[in-house]
Amino acid sequence: MPEALRLDVAEFGAAPAAMPALQVGPTTAADLAGRVVAWQRVHGRHGLPWQGTRDPYRVWLSEVMLQQTQVATVLGYYGRFLQRFPDVQALAAAPLDDVLALWSGLGYYSRARNLHRCAQAVVSQHGGRFPASSQALATLPGIGPSTAAAIAAFCFGERAAILDGNVKRVLTRALGFDGDLAQPAQERRLWEQARALLPAQGVEAYTQGLMDLGSGVCTLRRPACERCPLQDTCVARRQARPQDFPVKTRRLKRGRREQVLLWLCQADRLWLVQRPDTGVWAGLWSLPEWPADEDLQPRVAAWPGQGEVLPAVEHALTHFDWTLRPLRWTWPQDLAVADQQALEAALPPGRWMTPAQALQLGLPAPVRRLFSSA
Ligand code: ADE
Repeated sequence: MPEALRLDVAEFGAAPAAMPALQVGPTTAADLAGRVVAWQRVHGRHGLPWQGTRDPYRVWLSEVMLQQTQVATVLGYYGRFLQRFPDVQALAAAPLDDVLALWSGLGYYSRARNLHRCAQAVVSQHGGRFPASSQALATLPGIGPSTAAAIAAFCFGERAAILDGNVKRVLTRALGFDGDLAQPAQERRLWEQARALLPAQGVEAYTQGLMDLGSGVCTLRRPACERCPLQDTCVARRQARPQDFPVKTRRLKRGRREQVLLWLCQADRLWLVQRPDTGVWAGLWSLPEWPADEDLQPRVAAWPGQGEVLPAVEHALTHFDWTLRPLRWTWPQDLAVADQQALEAALPPGRWMTPAQALQLGLPAPVRRLFSSA
């Protein structure tokens, strides 16, 4: 049994308004939250563009962008996005391709699609105003319980618990929570503990403090415990085993995928296909793909013009590493109409576009880079 810094949630959760000074190992929940709040006010992040506002549109946009991407990357995208879509109505009314184009490079395009759907739901179902509770926010597309809680805490001061990957790490280490988060029951237990820790006051600074600790102090590999306000009582630190938390047995096994990308040109145009609505790069315009060279070779063997194999592009996604092998092929401009039609009919359904038109659309980042490197 690890040294106890455990919360008795049943007892503690019963009276959220008046915090009992419950002893949890060497500290109390109120003390722990108090130290996070005090630390955030002095050492946490301030002055980020989404911090000086209680406008749910701006906060929601930042939270969705920050779900998997670091603050430094989000900074550039956030300003551009707001310039083009200054409010939820503008975003809801925009063509999806415009949204995907501005998102290009942030990855996880399903987020951009959900962002657009969410804006449309806010406009059509809520009169253009985000609902003012975490519970209602969590019913909207792309807003999970942790994001809903962050928006509600930052915009409405609601005492709602966040629990994203970084915060799971902070809390499991601080509490010595060693339940296996691959089990839904243990995940629920950790949520209960996160709720039990919420301070009676200062939920905004507390929420931001947990995020800041998770991203800058209580890091995955080398936690900077000497800078942490919880260092005296943190169970993982006292036991010198931060790397053991959080416990999650079912690890994702990363796969590999290798494909040929056909970069087909004719005059000043190239052939692009729109990807299906689900899966990797959902809905984006991209180059046609084949599982491997052998599948494409018989098809191009009879093509006019010439081809060139370009250097492979490596792209890492959440579940697999992807090697993309571009084959650039140029058809002559002056094909007979019948030949042109026969060749096009054998291509995957798509459209000819100029590079400038293509760059206006939502293109996957590696494809965009490929075009701009040419
Ligand atoms: N990660 C998710 N939300 C964040 C926020 N508001 N500030 C910093 N990092 C975050």
